[in-house]
Amino acid sequence: MPAIQPLPNMDENLSSSPAFIDRGEVLLVDDSATSLAALSTALTQAGYVVREAPSGELALMTLKVRLPELVLLDVRMPAMDGFEICRRIKAEAGTRDIPVIFLSAQDETPDKVRGFRAGAVDFIGKNFAEEEMLARIDTHIELGRVKKVLEAERAALEDRVRERTEELRQDIAKRLAAEEENRSLERALWQARKMEAIGLLAGGIAHDFNHLLSLILGYAQFAQSALAGGRTEKLAGYLAEILKAGDEGQAVVAQLLAFSRADEAAGEAIDIGGAIAESVDFLLPAMGAGIRLDFAAAGPLPPLFIKPVQVRQVATNLILNARDAITTGGNIAVRLSMARSHPAQACVSCRKPFAGDHLVLSVEDDGHGIAPEILDRLFDPFFTTKDIGKGVGLGLPMVHGIVHSAGGHVTVESLPGVGSRFRIWLPAAGTV
Ligand SMILES: Nc1ncnc2c1ncn2[C@@H]1O[C@H](COP(=O)(O)OP(=O)(O)OP(=O)(O)O)[C@@H](O)[C@H]1O
Ligand SMILES: [Mg+2]
Repeated sequence: MPAIQPLPNMDENLSSSPAFIDRGEVLLVDDSATSLAALSTALTQAGYVVREAPSGELALMTLKVRLPELVLLDVRMPAMDGFEICRRIKAEAGTRDIPVIFLSAQDETPDKVRGFRAGAVDFIGKNFAEEEMLARIDTHIELGRVKKVLEAERAALEDRVRERTEELRQDIAKRLAAEEENRSLERALWQARKMEAIGLLAGGIAHDFNHLLSLILGYAQFAQSALAGGRTEKLAGYLAEILKAGDEGQAVVAQLLAFSRADEAAGEAIDIGGAIAESVDFLLPAMGAGIRLDFAAAGPLPPLFIKPVQVRQVATNLILNARDAITTGGNIAVRLSMARSHPAQACVSCRKPFAGDHLVLSVEDDGHGIAPEILDRLFDPFFTTKDIGKGVGLGLPMVHGIVHSAGGHVTVESLPGVGSRFRIWLPAAGTV
């Protein structure tokens, strides 16, 4: 039995050998010295680097030292046959990718089936023409190389996907952080607007009260000097002016209370449909030519614990706003029905989401609509788009105050040029 050949170029980089680069390195395993020598000569002459192993044990040992690109394996050997060697090569992670071709003396189908089952890629009969044998070896070495390249590319691709996924993850994290920053800026802006509105409100109240107080003080002084001068016939007129200014002051306070929540909605259960029908009847004469106002309730509706005057204030403000949005004729539909708010819906005024069954008062018009950029300012005190003397900007803040003190919310849908729909959502169950 010839000893195993020393491994060629053990300490060198094999890729520098032209033979290795051209044809590849083959491990030849055969117990027959004659056949080993013949095959080895043929392969070496064809340009392969050949390593020889006369037994299965030696073949497996040499595989531990360095991997060939292909194993040519004799089927019949005394101690360990080709099938067993092949099975062991395929069982090891480090060697399982090396293509194994069986060499057999006879061309027997059962052997081939066993061989392919053990993991072989091909069979070569020892009686094959040399060209065919070399062509098959070449093909399998080439296939093995292509497979390695593909695997390297797949690994590179996986690395790229991993890198890209990480980049995307970081992008998303950055975007989320930016969105959070935006949200906090929005909150700061909202807070600043609120402060501005409170400032305006305070300024407005001071102005109104100053005016009323100067009226009261002025007429009181007139009354005093009339009394001192004995002109008592003027006293009744001066007192009437003082009372008028006092009444106006009271009305301002009532308005303020309505949206400061100080005046909580409460009282006995009322028929809300009746209160709205009254407001609609009352407002019909104020509708102007070409404006159709109608009201319908889809029953049965639950009674609500809210003051009728407050329901009328809400309906009146919404209907008058709808009227002001219609220039040359149109329709205002006031509706009352039960509806369910879905959890994603938020109040346009307090921004809080709200869900569940509600009694909904809807006021819809086909007027000029609302520009999207002012939609979130509608409920700010003193926000108005109307001319001086036509609107103060206190209608919707009052609606906000009354509706929220009743535990309700407001939504607005509007399309410029098409119309608007304001909906008041009042909780149908529990105390409102
Ligand atoms: N139905 C609507 N269609 C179009 N715009 C509307 C409608 N309702 C309200 N608005 C807009 O909202 C603004 C604020 O309304 P709000 O009722 O608070 O004040 P106002 O009507 O201007 O004045 P006030 O009600 O104090 O007389 C209005 O100036 C208008 O621009
Ligand atoms: Mg108004």
